[in-house]
Amino acid sequence: MSKIELPSLSRRSLDAVWHPCTQMQHHDQGVPLPAIARAQGAWLHDQDGKPYLDAISSWWVNLFGHSHPHIVQAVADQLHTLDHVMLCGLTHEPVVQLSEQLAALTGNQLGHAFYGSDGASAVEVALKLSVQYWRNQGQSRKHRFVGIRQGYHGETLGALAVTDVPLFREHYGEQLATAYTAASPDLRQTPHPDGHEAVTQAALDSLADVLASHADIAAVILEPLVQCAGGMAMHAPAYLSGVRALCDRHQVHLILDEIAVGCGRTGTFFACEQAGIWPDLLCLSKGITGGTLPLSVVLSSHALYQGFYHADLRRGFLHSHSYSGNPLACRAALATLELFRRLPVFELQAALGARLDQGLQDLAARHPGMRHLRRCGMIWAFELDAGPARCDHLGFARRFYRSAMQQGLLLRPIADTVYVMPGYLWQQAETDHLLSGLHALLKEYA
Ligand SMILES: Cc1ncc(COP(=O)(O)O)c(C=O)c1O
Repeated sequence: MSKIELPSLSRRSLDAVWHPCTQMQHHDQGVPLPAIARAQGAWLHDQDGKPYLDAISSWWVNLFGHSHPHIVQAVADQLHTLDHVMLCGLTHEPVVQLSEQLAALTGNQLGHAFYGSDGASAVEVALKLSVQYWRNQGQSRKHRFVGIRQGYHGETLGALAVTDVPLFREHYGEQLATAYTAASPDLRQTPHPDGHEAVTQAALDSLADVLASHADIAAVILEPLVQCAGGMAMHAPAYLSGVRALCDRHQVHLILDEIAVGCGRTGTFFACEQAGIWPDLLCLSKGITGGTLPLSVVLSSHALYQGFYHADLRRGFLHSHSYSGNPLACRAALATLELFRRLPVFELQAALGARLDQGLQDLAARHPGMRHLRRCGMIWAFELDAGPARCDHLGFARRFYRSAMQQGLLLRPIADTVYVMPGYLWQQAETDHLLSGLHALLKEYA
């Protein structure tokens, strides 16, 4: 495959935009910053027209490819009808339809939708709902949370307090509320599937210990099936049913953060369906608009909703965001749900999954540096033994990203974890491009 020359940007452009999750000086040290001019389907095109395969769905948001015509049309129609209106004291058709459809997808187990603007704001909403619910019940001592080792829930102070990624937390220790942390059910802890049950049980025992030792816990929060930002750590559905039982036994809420793993990413619309459980609160964002507009939503059980339903204003949930339930974003979400109904999404995923499984297993057989190749639905990950380059995980991730862009591939490892999150409509051309690019990268790095 011929290497793509990366475009350079002017000094002025680099300084004017302060990029997220970035040490800006690294751009001066050769980390590329391609200027993306347009995107269509699985491909991003820079200002010079060079294509890059978006192999991580642009931070896991883009489900059906970029600018899917059905979503584009729905948003354009909505823009001509009702662009925005506040959701306090007013309502509108798209938000009502979306809430009804989401409730129906949960079999009406989670029949009340509260809207935010991004993932972190949904997590804040869920945490606050749990605390205030207990307060409204006269149980104000229940105000702390349990997070899971290497869990990630966003960067605002409340979300960061239940996140266990030291790199993101280290400067803000004084500002973060105390939270308890239970062991991760990460199945990489055992090399053989025979050990999976023991890892799952050990994580459940750890959570049981935390719950038994503290009477001030309001809720447990976790990412079901895959802890994504913590390194695509996957666990067994049995862990989730065990956690549900523990939460019931200790009378604490279960908050499932499906911001990354919801909307079909794990092979079912909600990840928790695979464990046959429902949480008290479920957070969705990222893919809900098909990767077009920012929107998040917290789905609540009826029991929790009832805890706020009262004549007294102050017992209501007085939280708000200016763009809560924005009509454009809701229409994008409705169009996304329509695509789930119109297309055989999970059959397409199965076919794509078989192709990628085969290709990645072939690569693993040729490149012994690939370790722990694993898959959950539309998420594949492996660790890469990159020799001396691996000693500095963060430096490795940057260099790998740069090399991948030169291959026309958007891949951003998390430390030494390389992962792929394809769009659900990828064709053979996309799979082939990914596999040949990865082959070249593995020869360069492993
Ligand atoms: C599981 C999970 N929760 C919360 C968030 C935060 O979402 P946002 O970046 O939209 O604030 C993320 C983002 O990656 C996530 O993966």
